[in-house]
Amino acid sequence: MNKEEIIDKTIQFVAKELEHETTGHDWWHINRVLKLSEKIAGQEGGDIFKIKMIALLHDIADYKLNEQEEEGVKKLTNYLNNTFNDHPIKQEIINDIYNLSYKGANVVQQQLSLEGKIVQDADRLDAIGAIGIARAFAYGGNKNRSMHDPDEAPNMHNSFEEYKLSKGSTINHFHEKLLLLKDRMNTTSAKKLAEQRHIYMSDFLKQFYAEWEAR
Ligand code: ADP
Ligand code: NI
Repeated sequence: MNKEEIIDKTIQFVAKELEHETTGHDWWHINRVLKLSEKIAGQEGGDIFKIKMIALLHDIADYKLNEQEEEGVKKLTNYLNNTFNDHPIKQEIINDIYNLSYKGANVVQQQLSLEGKIVQDADRLDAIGAIGIARAFAYGGNKNRSMHDPDEAPNMHNSFEEYKLSKGSTINHFHEKLLLLKDRMNTTSAKKLAEQRHIYMSDFLKQFYAEWEAR
């Protein structure tokens, strides 16, 4: 298989895997991350094949989408083993995917390749702005989280375990993650794209709190 055929095969695989996904991690999320990654790569460089593969596969093994985390990891490694022979890029893709996702406000970010950094920025851009707001409430509803609890303070998690087990409200998720993302972008291009999305989200929260207080 040449690179183009591998990308096509991967699109089919991911679209099928995420067909019934309703937590904001559906095929359209992957497609937006793919497009944003390509846009950022246009400014920042990087190996476009590796970027596309990371973008396409980045949520397949995610703990949020798999009841058993090992099951997700198996799905991803089986797919890559059946697609590549012993190509070194396979392990690089797996490493980047593993280190890509947010693991808590106070958890140190592990090293990513340039390609991993670009996809992480794209994934984080899709977590903020209008789409980010919609995805957060879709996720919260699906996971039985309350929308807002004024008596509950945000929790700036110190470990991935703590973050994973947290059952906090969706509004708290804005403080625990979404509002922090603009200052954690890796690339200058993504920092610029994040600005307007961040303002939109802050305005949304101001309006939300005002309406909550019946103002
Ligand atoms: P990451 O791997 O960095 O978490 P994802 O693409 O997997 O990125 O998606 C993260 C998105 O899932 C968040 O931006 C948010 O929309 C949703 N999400 C995750 N945890 C929560 C939560 N506790 N409350 C509300 N939404 C959440
Ligand atoms: Ni994602």
